[in-house]
Amino acid sequence: MSQPQTHRLIQLTDAHIGEDRHHRLAGICTYDTFRQVLADIAARRDVPDMLMVTGDIAALGKQEAYKLFAEQIRFVDIPYAWLPGNHDDFDVMQTSVTSAPYWSLLEFGDWRVISLNSAVSGQVGGTLIEAELEFLATTLRSESGHPIIIFTHHPPVSVGCKWLDKQKISNAHEFETIVASASNVRAVFCGHVHQETETRWAGSRIYTSPSTCFQFAANSADFALSNDCPGYRWIDLHPDGYLETGVCRLDIADFAVDHQVQNY
Ligand SMILES: [Fe+2]
Repeated sequence: MSQPQTHRLIQLTDAHIGEDRHHRLAGICTYDTFRQVLADIAARRDVPDMLMVTGDIAALGKQEAYKLFAEQIRFVDIPYAWLPGNHDDFDVMQTSVTSAPYWSLLEFGDWRVISLNSAVSGQVGGTLIEAELEFLATTLRSESGHPIIIFTHHPPVSVGCKWLDKQKISNAHEFETIVASASNVRAVFCGHVHQETETRWAGSRIYTSPSTCFQFAANSADFALSNDCPGYRWIDLHPDGYLETGVCRLDIADFAVDHQVQNY
């Protein structure tokens, strides 16, 4: 019998890829930084089991952006899963990121990995519609014997930036009630806020992660960028139900965001 093994996932988030390779946002070529992040992952000695891409893959939800994304991510030769963010178009994604369909439940050994769609068309902030909450409650019940992690684009908690905190999941309380009633949710991983945070929540923990392009300034009341380089999060799921996680940051010498930009 084979030994139970540790499963490593890597969270990639908020790539904001444009319709062509030269598209720049806040002075950053988002396609280039996405490729640099992939190159960093490809150079690691510990190959992850899967890349979890937590939304805002595209800057404007256009098919060309998803094609560029799919074209690049296949070079690292690691399976990947994705979920939509507010800048994405879920319907367009489902027909253009065809090498990996949308999976709402994945298994890694004893672990279960749930993806929730917090993006609602035409809305910047997040909401978990009734069907998502229902799916979560049902799955937490049916998988009650397993350690579980959840991925979703918008965080259900404030991260300390007033302007971003207005965009957190609007019905976070319902989400919290469902998670708190289960005892096996080890962590929730979110994107959207382009920065690393950790918060105790619903008897579990919420982690947010750096973007693969530009980062938002921490503790800022209004829109503001930071000079931090692109990054990604690793997550180790151990066979005894223990979870470890951390962030890796790229070191790009000429990384310079345009601080005059007021939106993205
Ligand atoms: Fe977002």
